Amino acid sequence: MRGIILSGGHATRLRPCTKVTSKQLLPVYNRPMIYYPLNTLIKAGIKEILIIVAPEQAGDYLNLLGSGEEMGVKFTYEIQDEPKGLAQAFILAENFIDKEDVVMILGDNIFEDDLSNEINSFKKGGKIFAKEVSDPERFGIVEFDENNKVISIEEKPAKPKSNYCVTGLYIYDNKVVQMAKNLKPSARGEIEITDINNEYLKLNELEVAMVEGEWIDAGTFDSLLKAQNLAKERLQEKLVI
Ligand code: TTP
Repeated sequence: MRGIILSGGHATRLRPCTKVTSKQLLPVYNRPMIYYPLNTLIKAGIKEILIIVAPEQAGDYLNLLGSGEEMGVKFTYEIQDEPKGLAQAFILAENFIDKEDVVMILGDNIFEDDLSNEINSFKKGGKIFAKEVSDPERFGIVEFDENNKVISIEEKPAKPKSNYCVTGLYIYDNKVVQMAKNLKPSARGEIEITDINNEYLKLNELEVAMVEGEWIDAGTFDSLLKAQNLAKERLQEKLVI
């Protein structure tokens, strides 16, 4: 399985801190933010990792992370010229993914859970991870029927049908590359990961697992502060890098 860390974006919600650097390079307690999602992949034994970055900060990422040898893995870098959506990653990563399955994690998503077993037991289709949140309008939201079967995923719904959001770790089989290439951009001009998830749902190949521990999307000042405290109090002993 190949790994991707998506670490571009505009990070407008963290201005001015992100005016001259990337959100995912900001400190979360004693490490740059990207170390936490990287830890999730490396702990699961993923050896080949593609880091997708914005052009302005590509040099900083190279300086920070280098070849990956120090961490026992191999890093490859890809530039995303404009942030055109999470699912654009699979198009940019086509050659890197080759004929393999792929796990993608967002560079600002911090998971307390060790997801190694979830990643390593993946067989086919798509597997995503949901977590109950209090502000579902901000996320992709999972709708369940009365038997807890997933019936749809809606991107940032005005009237959310549940409080369970799709977190930033996605595991897909090799079909994802072609699926992403066939998608049209949404009204906001992005190639949406929610569309990928709905495609897998249509094929009856989407598995939704629950995140048990803390999960933080560290993209706002409040959630970044929360991430700092979580990192100090509960994540240090879980880090392998
Ligand atoms: P967001 O937090 O949705 O977007 P952003 O980081 O640009 O922040 P803001 O809304 O404050 O302007 O993105 C989620 C993650 O995905 C984050 O780590 C950035 C990354 N990303 C990309 O790398 N490329 C993209 O095209 C998009 C949409 C996001």
